[in-house]
Amino acid sequence: MKTLLINGSPRKNGNTSVALAEVAKSLEAEGIETETFWLGNKPVRGCAACYACVSRKLGKCAFDDDVCNRLVERFAEADAFVVGSPTYYGQPAGALLAVLQRAFFSGRAHVEGKPAACVAICRRGGSTAAFQCMNMPFEMLNSLIVGSQYWNVAFGREPGEAAQDSEGMQTMRTLGKNLSWVLKNLHGEGAVPRPPQEEWQPMHFIR
Ligand SMILES: Cc1cc2nc3c(=O)[nH]c(=O)nc-3n(C[C@H](O)[C@H](O)[C@H](O)COP(=O)(O)O)c2cc1C
Repeated sequence: MKTLLINGSPRKNGNTSVALAEVAKSLEAEGIETETFWLGNKPVRGCAACYACVSRKLGKCAFDDDVCNRLVERFAEADAFVVGSPTYYGQPAGALLAVLQRAFFSGRAHVEGKPAACVAICRRGGSTAAFQCMNMPFEMLNSLIVGSQYWNVAFGREPGEAAQDSEGMQTMRTLGKNLSWVLKNLHGEGAVPRPPQEEWQPMHFIR
């Protein structure tokens, strides 16, 4: 069982990395393999709404000139996802949202129905809004959203400071434990498979 942790901060070893590392350590202590994917700090595009990924059944974004498809390639192997972001103006990092919207739209088949959790880091405020925003895609991807003893947030400004947020770090460890519990129940002996899904019935409110 493997969890893919996505670090959406342009600072590779910043506070988001500290928080995700704490989740990963907790998962690994429970026997769950982890892989951390750093989004990087190179320019990324937003979704062009070309629908080529859907109409041509690409399974990845039609635009292959940034990190998006490198992330999509990691989806199939993952049994669970943890998305982490710094808080920018009370929102997740823009580049992360730009990539995730494309990655989820084109790589949906390997995301839906799996457990997922989000983590937001901030200096002082707005992390709960960012956290809620990141949860939104998973709330419509048949995901099992995993929580902790508190919202999955931690505080820090300069890289590494979040390690001093003892409650935040505990929240991350508890998240890892909860996620491992969900994974073991989903994949263990006697696990009940996901029920068959109805065919999608799109209704666009247009007559
Ligand atoms: C553009 C920008 C906007 C930010 N907005 C907020 C904010 O709304 N609230 C807050 O508490 N911190 C804000 N911060 C601070 C970061 O969230 C904080 O430094 C965080 O630790 C960064 O995570 P990282 O080290 O993983 O990059 C902002 C930082 C930047 C660069």
